[in-house]
Amino acid sequence: MSIEEIKASQLDAEQFIAEKVREIADAVGDGVAINALSGGVDSSVVTMLGHRALGERLLSYFVDNGLMRAGEPEQTVAMFAEVGVHVELVAARDQFFAAIDGVTDPEEKREAITRTFYHDVFGGLVRESGARYLLQGTILTDIDETVAGIKRQHNVFEQLGIDPQEAFGYRILEPLVQLRKAGVRKIGQALGLPTKIWDRMPFPGPGLATRIIGVVTPERVDLVRKATAILESELAEIEAFQYMAILHEDRVTGSREGRREFGQQIEVRCWDSVDARTARPTRLPWELLEKLSARMVGELPGVVSVTYNIATKPPSTMEVV
Ligand code: XMP
Repeated sequence: MSIEEIKASQLDAEQFIAEKVREIADAVGDGVAINALSGGVDSSVVTMLGHRALGERLLSYFVDNGLMRAGEPEQTVAMFAEVGVHVELVAARDQFFAAIDGVTDPEEKREAITRTFYHDVFGGLVRESGARYLLQGTILTDIDETVAGIKRQHNVFEQLGIDPQEAFGYRILEPLVQLRKAGVRKIGQALGLPTKIWDRMPFPGPGLATRIIGVVTPERVDLVRKATAILESELAEIEAFQYMAILHEDRVTGSREGRREFGQQIEVRCWDSVDARTARPTRLPWELLEKLSARMVGELPGVVSVTYNIATKPPSTMEVV
């Protein structure tokens, strides 16, 4: 079944919100639903729609998979407390690291994370809570790329012939599937979410694992997390769709304090895009790139090379995994 797109320019936010709130309330009836909040724009908007529809009967969880940015789990819980939504933090770091241990193939990595998330973690939460529905923020762009076989986005099932009820024991409600990012932001704003939430830079569900080429270990995640913190502080004032730091697998010869160091490479990407379907590298000021490089090689142990990606999407994709 093909999904009819609602373009941001044609979107009547109030009408959309009323319709989706009604649909969620009708589907869930007098039961409870659970909600996967990652803190990104899409899942934040779904959380608010679900909260309007179900109130306390929506149980919102932030799964700490150990792959998020510095401080992200606590900040997300605090941000939602400010708008009156209680979010439960679920500690699942060890489960995720065990699932991706030794995996290097990008699609296998995504598959392992998806299974841990939906089958192991949410399967357990659903059984405990008696919920029959999971609400999540899948958008049209996620489905496009997954169906085209380019990248298996972590939150797409039905279009791949996977029945969540059979595979995980619950149904999935996806109120945003007809929208792309610009439309979701419009809904977030109309829902009264603070700008820092609806205008947030996208961040993928599988987190920093999408930014590590090769094996994902706690040490490698820690390195890319630190690189991300530097990048986000230096680019905070830059108008871009999304930026990211990537840890490469290949090492290169460098030198530190006069001694050879066969070191790590960080790649920086910064994208201009409207809907993530196509993207161009942002023309960042050279001085800014120099500062980024100086901070990364200076503050990140073992890093001797910093590069800036200048390819467009396509043929590139935005994340490396
Ligand atoms: P790509 O790498 O496919 O990214 O060009 C396009 C946009 O989608 C985000 N992305 C994801 N978001 N789950 C998500 O929620 C995923 O599995 C996923 N993979 C990529 C990416 O950050 C970018 O904004």
